[in-house]
Amino acid sequence: MITKPKGTMDLVGKDALLYTYISHVVSNMMTSYNYELIRTPLFENSELFHRSVGKSSDIVRKETYDFQDKGERNLTLRPEGTAGIVRSFIENKMYASPDTKKFYYNGTMYRYERPQTGRMREFTQFGVEVLGSNDPIIDAEVISLQYRILEELHISDLQVNINSLGDEESRLKYREALVKYLEPHKDELCPDCQERLKINPLRCLDCKIDGEKDVIKKAPKTIDYLNEDSKKRFNKVLEYLDLLEVDYEVNPSIVRGLDYYDHTVFEIVSLSNVSNEHSVLGAGGRYNKLIKELDGPDSYGIGFACGVERIIEILKTIDLYNNLEPQIDCFVMYVSEEEKLHALTITQNLRLNGVICETDSQNKGLKGQFKEADRLNSKYLIILNNEDLKKGLVNVKDNATKEEEKIDIDEIVEYIIGNL
Ligand code: HAM
Repeated sequence: MITKPKGTMDLVGKDALLYTYISHVVSNMMTSYNYELIRTPLFENSELFHRSVGKSSDIVRKETYDFQDKGERNLTLRPEGTAGIVRSFIENKMYASPDTKKFYYNGTMYRYERPQTGRMREFTQFGVEVLGSNDPIIDAEVISLQYRILEELHISDLQVNINSLGDEESRLKYREALVKYLEPHKDELCPDCQERLKINPLRCLDCKIDGEKDVIKKAPKTIDYLNEDSKKRFNKVLEYLDLLEVDYEVNPSIVRGLDYYDHTVFEIVSLSNVSNEHSVLGAGGRYNKLIKELDGPDSYGIGFACGVERIIEILKTIDLYNNLEPQIDCFVMYVSEEEKLHALTITQNLRLNGVICETDSQNKGLKGQFKEADRLNSKYLIILNNEDLKKGLVNVKDNATKEEEKIDIDEIVEYIIGNL
Protein backbone atom coordinates (compact mmCIF):
# COMPACT_ATOMS: atom_id res chain seq x y z
CA MET A 1 0.00 0.00 0.00
CA ILE A 2 1.29 3.46 -0.85
CA THR A 3 0.89 5.83 2.10
CA LYS A 4 1.03 9.63 2.26
CA PRO A 5 4.46 11.24 2.74
CA LYS A 6 5.50 11.96 6.34
CA GLY A 7 4.30 15.32 7.61
CA THR A 8 1.37 15.62 5.19
CA MET A 9 -2.32 15.06 5.82
CA ASP A 10 -5.51 14.14 3.97
CA LEU A 11 -8.21 16.65 4.72
CA VAL A 12 -11.62 14.96 4.48
CA GLY A 13 -15.01 14.87 6.20
CA LYS A 14 -15.59 17.34 9.04
CA ASP A 15 -12.00 18.62 8.84
CA ALA A 16 -12.54 19.52 5.19
CA LEU A 17 -15.81 21.28 6.15
CA LEU A 18 -13.81 23.28 8.70
CA TYR A 19 -11.23 24.15 6.04
CA THR A 20 -13.99 25.42 3.72
CA TYR A 21 -15.52 27.40 6.58
CA ILE A 22 -12.14 28.98 7.42
CA SER A 23 -11.55 29.89 3.76
CA HIS A 24 -15.00 31.56 3.57
CA VAL A 25 -14.43 33.62 6.72
CA VAL A 26 -10.95 34.61 5.49
CA SER A 27 -12.04 35.72 2.03
CA ASN A 28 -15.09 37.62 3.37
CA MET A 29 -13.02 39.46 5.96
CA MET A 30 -10.22 40.22 3.48
CA THR A 31 -12.78 41.68 1.09
CA SER A 32 -14.20 43.95 3.82
CA TYR A 33 -10.71 45.25 4.56
CA ASN A 34 -10.18 45.80 0.80
CA TYR A 35 -7.42 43.20 0.33
CA GLU A 36 -6.91 41.73 -3.13
CA LEU A 37 -6.20 38.01 -3.74
CA ILE A 38 -2.73 37.16 -5.04
CA ARG A 39 -1.49 33.74 -6.20
CA THR A 40 2.22 33.17 -6.69
CA PRO A 41 4.06 29.95 -7.69
CA LEU A 42 4.44 27.01 -5.30
CA PHE A 43 8.11 26.90 -6.26
CA GLU A 44 10.52 29.76 -6.82
CA ASN A 45 14.21 30.13 -7.66
CA SER A 46 16.08 28.99 -4.52
CA GLU A 47 18.01 32.26 -4.39
CA LEU A 48 14.80 34.15 -3.55
CA PHE A 49 14.50 32.42 -0.17
CA HIS A 50 18.24 32.63 0.55
CA ARG A 51 18.08 36.39 0.12
CA SER A 52 14.77 37.02 1.90
CA VAL A 53 13.98 34.46 4.61
CA GLY A 54 17.76 34.48 5.06
CA LYS A 55 20.70 32.08 4.92
CA SER A 56 21.01 32.16 8.70
CA SER A 57 17.37 31.23 9.34
CA ASP A 58 16.51 27.68 10.45
CA ILE A 59 14.09 27.51 7.53
CA VAL A 60 16.75 27.99 4.85
CA ARG A 61 19.52 26.16 6.73
CA LYS A 62 17.55 23.00 7.44
CA GLU A 63 13.98 23.01 6.24
CA THR A 64 13.60 23.84 2.56
CA TYR A 65 12.63 21.33 -0.12
CA ASP A 66 15.24 22.08 -2.77
CA PHE A 67 15.48 20.40 -6.16
CA GLN A 68 16.91 20.82 -9.63
CA ASP A 69 14.54 20.65 -12.59
CA LYS A 70 15.45 19.01 -15.90
CA GLY A 71 16.97 22.31 -17.03
CA GLU A 72 19.29 22.21 -13.96
CA ARG A 73 17.65 25.24 -12.37
CA ASN A 74 17.85 25.35 -8.57
CA LEU A 75 14.31 25.59 -7.27
CA THR A 76 12.68 25.50 -3.84
CA LEU A 77 9.14 24.67 -2.74
CA ARG A 78 7.98 27.83 -0.97
CA PRO A 79 8.39 27.62 2.84
CA GLU A 80 6.31 30.80 3.28
CA GLY A 81 4.42 33.36 1.20
CA THR A 82 6.06 36.72 1.80
CA ALA A 83 9.14 36.26 -0.42
CA GLY A 84 7.13 35.26 -3.52
CA ILE A 85 4.74 38.19 -3.14
CA VAL A 86 7.57 40.70 -2.73
CA ARG A 87 9.26 39.15 -5.79
CA SER A 88 6.02 39.56 -7.76
CA PHE A 89 5.63 43.18 -6.56
CA ILE A 90 9.12 43.98 -7.88
CA GLU A 91 9.00 41.87 -11.07
CA ASN A 92 5.64 43.33 -12.12
CA LYS A 93 6.71 46.88 -11.20
CA MET A 94 3.64 47.27 -8.98
CA TYR A 95 5.57 49.99 -7.15
CA ALA A 96 5.13 52.25 -10.23
CA SER A 97 1.81 53.51 -8.84
CA PRO A 98 2.02 55.26 -5.49
CA ASP A 99 -0.97 53.49 -3.88
CA THR A 100 -0.67 51.08 -1.00
CA LYS A 101 -0.91 47.50 -2.35
CA LYS A 102 -2.88 45.19 -0.08
CA PHE A 103 -2.71 41.47 -0.93
CA TYR A 104 -4.03 38.33 0.71
CA TYR A 105 -3.27 34.69 0.06
CA ASN A 106 -4.30 31.23 1.19
CA GLY A 107 -2.13 28.31 0.08
CA THR A 108 0.22 25.44 0.89
CA MET A 109 3.77 25.90 2.17
CA TYR A 110 6.54 23.32 2.61
CA ARG A 111 9.10 22.93 5.39
CA TYR A 112 11.16 19.84 6.15
CA GLU A 113 10.38 19.81 9.88
CA ARG A 114 10.09 17.07 12.49
CA PRO A 115 6.38 16.40 12.16
CA GLN A 116 4.09 16.61 15.23
CA THR A 117 0.71 18.12 16.04
CA GLY A 118 0.69 21.65 14.64
CA ARG A 119 3.94 21.18 12.79
CA MET A 120 3.66 19.69 9.33
CA ARG A 121 5.90 19.36 6.28
CA GLU A 122 3.07 20.45 4.01
CA PHE A 123 0.80 23.01 5.67
CA THR A 124 -1.54 25.85 4.75
CA GLN A 125 -1.16 29.51 5.55
CA PHE A 126 -3.50 32.39 4.94
CA GLY A 127 -2.01 35.80 5.26
CA VAL A 128 -1.59 39.31 3.95
CA GLU A 129 1.22 41.48 2.65
CA VAL A 130 0.84 45.26 2.46
CA LEU A 131 3.40 47.00 0.28
CA GLY A 132 4.20 50.67 -0.17
CA SER A 133 3.14 52.21 3.16
CA ASN A 134 5.17 52.89 6.27
CA ASP A 135 2.29 54.49 8.19
CA PRO A 136 1.73 52.85 11.61
CA ILE A 137 -1.98 52.82 10.74
CA ILE A 138 -1.15 49.88 8.46
CA ASP A 139 0.73 48.01 11.22
CA ALA A 140 -2.40 48.36 13.37
CA GLU A 141 -4.70 47.37 10.49
CA VAL A 142 -2.72 44.22 9.69
CA ILE A 143 -2.54 43.12 13.33
CA SER A 144 -6.21 43.83 14.00
CA LEU A 145 -7.25 42.08 10.78
CA GLN A 146 -5.45 38.92 11.92
CA TYR A 147 -7.06 39.27 15.34
CA ARG A 148 -10.57 39.82 13.97
CA ILE A 149 -10.37 36.87 11.55
CA LEU A 150 -9.44 34.51 14.39
CA GLU A 151 -12.18 36.03 16.55
CA GLU A 152 -14.70 35.56 13.73
CA LEU A 153 -13.59 31.91 13.62
CA HIS A 154 -14.78 31.61 17.26
CA ILE A 155 -11.29 31.35 18.75
CA SER A 156 -11.40 32.90 22.20
CA ASP A 157 -8.83 34.45 24.56
CA LEU A 158 -6.73 35.88 21.76
CA GLN A 159 -3.60 37.77 22.65
CA VAL A 160 -1.12 39.49 20.39
CA ASN A 161 2.47 39.43 21.65
CA ILE A 162 4.14 42.41 20.10
CA ASN A 163 7.64 43.87 20.02
CA SER A 164 9.71 46.29 17.99
CA LEU A 165 13.12 45.56 16.52
CA GLY A 166 13.45 49.21 15.48
CA ASP A 167 15.14 50.64 12.43
CA GLU A 168 18.60 49.66 11.19
CA GLU A 169 20.44 51.95 13.58
CA SER A 170 18.56 50.55 16.60
CA ARG A 171 19.01 46.98 15.42
CA LEU A 172 22.76 47.35 14.97
CA LYS A 173 23.13 48.92 18.40
CA TYR A 174 21.10 46.12 19.92
CA ARG A 175 22.97 43.38 18.08
CA GLU A 176 26.26 44.74 19.39
CA ALA A 177 24.94 44.79 22.97
CA LEU A 178 23.52 41.29 22.68
CA VAL A 179 26.76 39.78 21.34
CA LYS A 180 28.72 41.54 24.09
CA TYR A 181 26.36 40.05 26.66
CA LEU A 182 26.20 36.51 25.20
CA GLU A 183 29.88 35.97 24.33
CA PRO A 184 30.96 35.27 27.95
CA HIS A 185 28.01 32.83 28.30
CA LYS A 186 28.73 31.00 25.05
CA ASP A 187 29.32 27.63 26.73
CA GLU A 188 25.87 27.71 28.31
CA LEU A 189 24.22 27.88 24.87
CA CYS A 190 23.12 24.93 22.72
CA PRO A 191 25.34 24.09 19.69
CA ASP A 192 22.82 25.73 17.34
CA CYS A 193 22.88 28.99 19.33
CA GLN A 194 26.68 28.98 19.45
CA GLU A 195 26.48 28.99 15.67
CA ARG A 196 23.68 31.61 15.69
CA LEU A 197 25.79 33.88 17.84
CA LYS A 198 28.13 34.24 14.88
CA ILE A 199 25.60 34.58 12.07
CA ASN A 200 22.43 36.01 13.65
CA PRO A 201 22.56 36.46 17.44
CA LEU A 202 18.91 37.65 17.68
CA ARG A 203 17.89 34.14 16.81
CA CYS A 204 19.22 32.89 20.17
CA LEU A 205 16.39 34.74 21.90
CA ASP A 206 13.60 32.61 20.47
CA CYS A 207 15.57 29.35 20.49
CA LYS A 208 13.34 26.39 21.40
CA ILE A 209 16.08 24.95 23.67
CA ASP A 210 17.79 28.01 25.16
CA GLY A 211 14.71 30.25 25.28
CA GLU A 212 13.82 29.11 28.79
CA LYS A 213 17.38 29.43 30.21
CA ASP A 214 18.18 32.26 32.61
CA VAL A 215 21.00 33.47 30.41
CA ILE A 216 18.52 34.21 27.61
CA LYS A 217 15.79 35.54 29.90
CA LYS A 218 18.22 38.08 31.33
CA ALA A 219 19.58 39.16 27.93
CA PRO A 220 19.24 42.83 26.87
CA LYS A 221 15.85 43.70 25.33
CA THR A 222 15.42 45.17 21.83
CA ILE A 223 12.98 47.69 23.17
CA ASP A 224 15.66 49.33 25.37
CA TYR A 225 17.81 50.00 22.30
CA LEU A 226 15.23 51.73 20.09
CA ASN A 227 16.23 55.21 18.95
CA GLU A 228 13.74 58.07 19.33
CA ASP A 229 12.12 57.64 15.89
CA SER A 230 11.67 53.90 16.33
CA LYS A 231 10.26 54.35 19.82
CA LYS A 232 7.80 57.00 18.61
CA ARG A 233 6.73 54.78 15.74
CA PHE A 234 6.16 51.79 18.03
CA ASN A 235 4.11 53.88 20.47
CA LYS A 236 1.88 55.03 17.61
CA VAL A 237 1.24 51.39 16.63
CA LEU A 238 0.26 50.60 20.23
CA GLU A 239 -1.98 53.70 20.42
CA TYR A 240 -3.84 52.61 17.27
CA LEU A 241 -4.17 49.04 18.58
CA ASP A 242 -5.72 50.41 21.78
CA LEU A 243 -8.21 52.33 19.70
CA LEU A 244 -9.08 49.19 17.72
CA GLU A 245 -9.49 47.26 20.99
CA VAL A 246 -6.93 44.60 20.16
CA ASP A 247 -5.74 42.71 23.23
CA TYR A 248 -1.93 42.85 23.10
CA GLU A 249 1.05 42.51 25.36
CA VAL A 250 4.46 44.00 24.67
CA ASN A 251 6.76 40.99 24.80
CA PRO A 252 10.47 41.76 24.32
CA SER A 253 11.38 38.14 23.57
CA ILE A 254 9.49 38.15 20.25
CA VAL A 255 12.22 38.50 17.62
CA ARG A 256 10.88 36.06 14.93
CA GLY A 257 12.74 33.35 13.05
CA LEU A 258 13.02 34.96 9.64
CA ASP A 259 15.75 37.42 8.72
CA TYR A 260 13.75 40.11 6.98
CA TYR A 261 12.05 41.88 9.89
CA ASP A 262 12.49 45.35 11.34
CA HIS A 263 10.24 47.60 13.49
CA THR A 264 6.97 45.88 14.47
CA VAL A 265 7.02 42.09 15.01
CA PHE A 266 4.16 40.07 16.50
CA GLU A 267 2.68 36.65 17.17
CA ILE A 268 -0.88 35.74 18.08
CA VAL A 269 -1.93 33.01 20.51
CA SER A 270 -5.16 31.80 22.06
CA LEU A 271 -4.45 31.89 25.80
CA SER A 272 -6.85 29.05 26.60
CA ASN A 273 -5.00 26.88 24.10
CA VAL A 274 -1.41 27.73 24.93
CA SER A 275 0.21 24.35 25.51
CA ASN A 276 3.43 24.41 23.52
CA GLU A 277 5.38 26.39 20.94
CA HIS A 278 2.92 25.21 18.29
CA SER A 279 0.12 27.18 19.86
CA VAL A 280 1.25 30.25 17.94
CA LEU A 281 -1.61 30.58 15.46
CA GLY A 282 -0.07 33.29 13.36
CA ALA A 283 2.76 35.75 13.19
CA GLY A 284 4.22 38.54 11.15
CA GLY A 285 5.98 41.82 11.06
CA ARG A 286 7.34 44.74 9.10
CA TYR A 287 10.10 44.29 6.51
CA ASN A 288 11.11 47.73 5.27
CA LYS A 289 14.48 46.67 3.88
CA LEU A 290 13.47 43.49 2.09
CA ILE A 291 12.17 45.07 -1.13
CA LYS A 292 15.46 46.86 -1.74
CA GLU A 293 17.45 43.75 -0.81
CA LEU A 294 15.57 41.88 -3.56
CA ASP A 295 16.65 44.54 -6.11
CA GLY A 296 13.43 46.57 -5.86
CA PRO A 297 13.05 50.24 -4.94
CA ASP A 298 13.21 51.64 -1.43
CA SER A 299 9.71 50.76 -0.28
CA TYR A 300 7.90 49.34 2.71
CA GLY A 301 6.20 46.11 3.65
CA ILE A 302 4.35 44.39 6.47
CA GLY A 303 2.27 41.23 6.72
CA PHE A 304 1.17 38.21 8.71
CA ALA A 305 0.51 34.53 8.12
CA CYS A 306 -1.69 32.14 10.10
CA GLY A 307 -1.39 28.33 10.18
CA VAL A 308 -4.66 26.79 9.03
CA GLU A 309 -3.93 23.29 10.45
CA ARG A 310 -3.31 24.82 13.89
CA ILE A 311 -6.61 26.68 13.67
CA ILE A 312 -8.38 23.46 12.65
CA GLU A 313 -6.92 21.69 15.72
CA ILE A 314 -8.41 24.37 17.98
CA LEU A 315 -11.77 24.48 16.23
CA LYS A 316 -12.03 20.71 16.70
CA THR A 317 -12.27 21.28 20.45
CA ILE A 318 -15.27 23.60 20.32
CA ASP A 319 -19.03 23.02 19.86
CA LEU A 320 -18.94 24.33 16.32
CA TYR A 321 -17.10 21.14 15.28
CA ASN A 322 -19.50 18.78 17.05
CA ASN A 323 -22.44 20.50 15.38
CA LEU A 324 -20.81 20.38 11.99
CA GLU A 325 -22.80 17.78 10.04
CA PRO A 326 -23.29 17.44 6.31
CA GLN A 327 -26.66 18.84 5.31
CA ILE A 328 -28.34 18.96 1.95
CA ASP A 329 -31.63 20.58 0.94
CA CYS A 330 -33.15 17.83 -1.09
CA PHE A 331 -32.74 14.13 -1.99
CA VAL A 332 -34.47 12.85 -5.14
CA MET A 333 -35.50 9.18 -4.91
CA TYR A 334 -36.41 6.79 -7.72
CA VAL A 335 -36.52 3.08 -8.59
CA SER A 336 -37.33 2.49 -12.27
CA GLU A 337 -35.28 3.67 -15.27
CA GLU A 338 -38.16 5.96 -16.31
CA GLU A 339 -38.22 7.56 -12.85
CA LYS A 340 -34.42 7.87 -13.02
CA LEU A 341 -34.68 10.07 -16.14
CA HIS A 342 -36.97 12.44 -14.24
CA ALA A 343 -34.67 12.30 -11.20
CA LEU A 344 -31.78 13.38 -13.39
CA THR A 345 -33.53 16.47 -14.76
CA ILE A 346 -35.23 17.46 -11.48
CA THR A 347 -31.90 17.19 -9.63
CA GLN A 348 -30.17 19.33 -12.24
CA ASN A 349 -32.92 21.98 -12.21
CA LEU A 350 -32.77 22.24 -8.44
CA ARG A 351 -28.94 22.44 -8.43
CA LEU A 352 -28.92 25.14 -11.10
CA ASN A 353 -31.27 27.13 -8.89
CA GLY A 354 -28.93 26.96 -5.91
CA VAL A 355 -30.63 24.08 -4.06
CA ILE A 356 -28.13 21.59 -2.59
CA CYS A 357 -29.47 18.42 -4.12
CA GLU A 358 -28.48 14.75 -4.37
CA THR A 359 -29.86 11.63 -6.00
CA ASP A 360 -29.00 7.92 -5.90
CA SER A 361 -25.94 6.67 -7.78
CA GLN A 362 -25.70 3.18 -6.29
CA ASN A 363 -28.84 1.46 -7.62
CA LYS A 364 -30.13 1.33 -4.07
CA GLY A 365 -33.71 0.35 -3.28
CA LEU A 366 -36.02 2.91 -1.66
CA LYS A 367 -35.06 1.76 1.85
CA GLY A 368 -31.37 2.35 1.13
CA GLN A 369 -32.13 5.75 -0.39
CA PHE A 370 -34.12 6.82 2.72
CA LYS A 371 -31.07 5.86 4.81
CA GLU A 372 -28.72 7.82 2.55
CA ALA A 373 -31.02 10.89 2.70
CA ASP A 374 -30.95 10.68 6.52
CA ARG A 375 -27.16 10.37 6.55
CA LEU A 376 -26.99 13.57 4.48
CA ASN A 377 -29.54 15.29 6.77
CA SER A 378 -31.71 16.09 3.78
CA LYS A 379 -34.38 18.67 4.55
CA TYR A 380 -36.73 17.47 1.78
CA LEU A 381 -37.25 14.17 -0.03
CA ILE A 382 -38.68 14.02 -3.52
CA ILE A 383 -40.03 10.50 -4.03
CA LEU A 384 -40.76 9.71 -7.67
CA ASN A 385 -43.16 7.04 -8.86
CA ASN A 386 -44.39 6.29 -12.36
CA GLU A 387 -48.08 6.66 -11.58
CA ASP A 388 -47.76 10.19 -10.22
CA LEU A 389 -45.29 11.17 -12.94
CA LYS A 390 -47.85 10.23 -15.60
CA LYS A 391 -50.18 12.79 -14.00
CA GLY A 392 -47.35 15.36 -13.94
CA LEU A 393 -47.00 15.13 -10.14
CA VAL A 394 -44.18 14.36 -7.70
CA ASN A 395 -44.28 13.42 -4.01
CA VAL A 396 -42.47 15.80 -1.68
CA LYS A 397 -41.82 14.92 1.95
CA ASP A 398 -40.68 17.41 4.59
CA ASN A 399 -38.13 15.28 6.44
CA ALA A 400 -38.58 17.19 9.73
CA THR A 401 -42.40 17.16 10.00
CA LYS A 402 -42.74 13.96 7.91
CA GLU A 403 -45.64 15.66 6.04
CA GLU A 404 -46.08 14.68 2.40
CA GLU A 405 -47.58 16.63 -0.50
CA LYS A 406 -48.07 16.04 -4.20
CA ILE A 407 -46.68 18.91 -6.27
CA ASP A 408 -46.92 19.73 -9.99
CA ILE A 409 -43.58 18.66 -11.54
CA ASP A 410 -43.18 22.09 -13.19
CA GLU A 411 -43.50 23.83 -9.84
CA ILE A 412 -41.10 21.71 -7.86
CA VAL A 413 -38.13 24.15 -7.96
CA GLU A 414 -40.31 27.06 -6.82
CA TYR A 415 -41.91 24.91 -4.11
CA ILE A 416 -38.59 23.74 -2.63
CA ILE A 417 -36.98 27.19 -2.78
CA GLY A 418 -40.09 28.73 -1.22
CA ASN A 419 -39.95 26.31 1.69
CA LEU A 420 -36.22 26.33 2.46
P1 HAM B 1 6.05 31.97 10.34
O1 HAM B 1 6.09 32.40 11.76
O2 HAM B 1 7.18 31.15 9.86
O3 HAM B 1 5.93 33.33 9.51
O4 HAM B 1 4.70 31.22 10.07
C1 HAM B 1 3.44 31.81 10.36
C2 HAM B 1 2.48 30.75 10.92
O5 HAM B 1 2.40 29.62 10.05
C3 HAM B 1 2.94 30.15 12.25
O6 HAM B 1 2.59 30.97 13.34
C4 HAM B 1 2.18 28.82 12.26
O7 HAM B 1 0.83 29.03 12.70
C5 HAM B 1 2.17 28.44 10.81
N1 HAM B 1 3.24 27.45 10.55
C6 HAM B 1 4.55 27.70 10.33
N2 HAM B 1 5.24 26.56 10.13
C7 HAM B 1 4.32 25.55 10.23
C8 HAM B 1 4.39 24.12 10.10
N3 HAM B 1 5.53 23.49 9.84
N4 HAM B 1 3.25 23.41 10.26
C9 HAM B 1 2.07 24.02 10.52
N5 HAM B 1 1.94 25.36 10.64
C10 HAM B 1 3.04 26.12 10.49
C11 HAM B 1 5.88 33.37 8.16
O8 HAM B 1 5.72 32.41 7.46
C12 HAM B 1 5.94 34.77 7.60
N6 HAM B 1 5.92 34.69 6.13
C13 HAM B 1 4.80 35.63 8.12
C14 HAM B 1 4.81 37.00 7.54
C15 HAM B 1 4.02 37.47 6.56
N7 HAM B 1 5.63 37.95 7.87
C16 HAM B 1 5.40 39.01 7.14
N8 HAM B 1 4.43 38.72 6.31
